[in-house]
Amino acid sequence: MQRQSHMRLAATVFSLALAGGAMADPVEDTLVIETDEGQIELVTTTAAPAHLQDVMDTIWSGWHFREDETRDLQRDDFDNPGMVFADRGLDSWNAAQGKNGESCAGCHQGPESMKGLRAVLPRVDEKTGKLMILENYVNACVTERMGLEAWGTTGDKMKDMLALISMQSRGEVVNVAIDGPAAPFWEQGKEIYYTRYGQLEMACANCHEDQQGKMIRADHLSQGQINGFPTYRLKDAGMVSAQQRFVGCVRDTRAETFKAGSDEFKALELYVASRGNGLSIEGVSVRH
Ligand code: HEC
Ligand code: HEC
Repeated sequence: MQRQSHMRLAATVFSLALAGGAMADPVEDTLVIETDEGQIELVTTTAAPAHLQDVMDTIWSGWHFREDETRDLQRDDFDNPGMVFADRGLDSWNAAQGKNGESCAGCHQGPESMKGLRAVLPRVDEKTGKLMILENYVNACVTERMGLEAWGTTGDKMKDMLALISMQSRGEVVNVAIDGPAAPFWEQGKEIYYTRYGQLEMACANCHEDQQGKMIRADHLSQGQINGFPTYRLKDAGMVSAQQRFVGCVRDTRAETFKAGSDEFKALELYVASRGNGLSIEGVSVRH
């Protein structure tokens, strides 16, 4: 009983924090990144995709909602703390770590062979009809083609590889399919996005659609886009994948969360990705 009333109080305080939250517009700024191969400019804001246009006109990368110092870390690869993880991914890519000495490079050549992939995932695999996130593709090769135990979904080895492969699509525009075989998964993800979970009875949409731009405690609420993932989170001093971020956000509403890599969160990833159709993949972004 005691515990429950605490919870209810917490919920009320939390809702008040939101209701009273000040508005702060996303920062007007342009993301031009210094890379080894020169400068590249990313699309960090654009017109909302057609399926969102009755709820919002414009989509914004989470980058626009972060403070100056955090945004600056993403302007130069030399300063971006996430690059270390992509470099580790490259070592792993080249290593003869399969049961019979197979390496990713042995079959796929350089990581550039993965160019464009991150921008179209999640997608339904033509051969199996399954909804695939990048983690699923990596694990399929690790287990079926290298004879190893799966790398799991949220471990360091997996996230290093997500960072490396995402970097190959940096600057490409998110373009996930939501029709055809993807449609039922997209509908499932959309339903999850609008369902209120947990003690706080809040849906993703309550925060990232209705309250976007508000200050919640010290945090500036973004649209919850995933074009920047995996991201280096300063708070955790490490990489966070989209799947992990979903777990964290649901947990913050005090709900039992779906597992990272579950069918539910894969469908949610497709739906959330589609809300960012038109934004650039950031490769490895930096968030607070
Ligand atoms: C023995 C060869 C082999 C090895 C080793 C291998 N792969 Fe693959 N990989 C393949 C084949 C074959 C495919 C399927 C290609 C297709 O369907 O077009 C594939 C597909 C993929 C895909 C999906 C690509 C796409 O465009 O759909 C990813 C991602 C991937 N591999 C990552 C890796 C990673 C990371 C490693 C190392 C940990 C690795 N692979 C090791 C052979 C291999
Ligand atoms: C109670 C409010 C709340 C709810 C509900 C919520 N989030 Fe969040 N979320 C936040 C806050 C606060 C942050 C950190 C600031 C920001 O980027 O918006 C965040 C960050 C994110 C980010 C990182 C964005 C970036 O660019 O770094 C993603 C992705 C995200 N949320 C997705 C979701 C999804 C999907 C759901 C539903 C399962 C959800 N969130 C539910 C509050 C919420």
